[in-house]
Amino acid sequence: MNRDLKIVRLEQCDSTNSYIRTRFEELKNDLPVMVTSLLQTGGRGRDNRVWDSRAGKGLYCSFGFHLEQGAGWHLLPLTAGIGIIDTLRRIAGLDTGLKWPNDILYRGRKIAGILIENVIFENRMFCVVGIGINLNHEVADFPVELEDKAVSLREITGSLYDVKEVSDTLADVFFTRLQDLEENRQEKIVDTARQYSRFMEGRPIRFHQKKEIVGGIFRGLNTDGGLILETEDGNRTICYSGEIEQ
Ligand code: BTN
Repeated sequence: MNRDLKIVRLEQCDSTNSYIRTRFEELKNDLPVMVTSLLQTGGRGRDNRVWDSRAGKGLYCSFGFHLEQGAGWHLLPLTAGIGIIDTLRRIAGLDTGLKWPNDILYRGRKIAGILIENVIFENRMFCVVGIGINLNHEVADFPVELEDKAVSLREITGSLYDVKEVSDTLADVFFTRLQDLEENRQEKIVDTARQYSRFMEGRPIRFHQKKEIVGGIFRGLNTDGGLILETEDGNRTICYSGEIEQ
């Protein structure tokens, strides 16, 4: 465990990302910080989606920290994804995959997601990395529209998980990986992300970028961690933002 990590464990809050962002003034001298909450009343996903956050079912946590300019900011989503995959392997011996850049899948269903929101404060850039992992949900705990898209660790292994233990493991694994970024070992992050997203190579995908949807074949990651998309005309383009339809 990172010894200087400040940990805030809440019973309830609107969103752990918002908690850090709105208390930045007070937290900025205590970074890095991890905030976890047993439930969130306003859990947020990417693209203004709601992240269903009922009590004790999932891990809802956010890390707040400073990352020097140029220290591989663009690889933060992949670093967080790797951290989640390593955590799931450590606590449950489970192999999951990275759906570039932000989702963790088990057999095509989503088990975890990441919401990164950076904060500029006094001309310095701070990162807020929010992570939600489906741990103890039963099928009926997911909203109907997610039933065949989401999965929890409990559904897969049949066991219940201690949220605190999972958050401690995640913090340990995530900050170790973050050190690779800070110490310029970006190649290591990209190589691991490639390995974790290999299951998608050669697959047809629909890629959402801004308001456009482009069809093509997933051809892996380039050396900067960008997605290589082979479009229908056979050309390859590199995408640095956007998301693959599930
Ligand atoms: C997504 O896949 O759309 C991202 C989901 C991120 C959810 C987590 S839960 C903890 C943190 N607080 C939030 O409000 N969202 C993130």
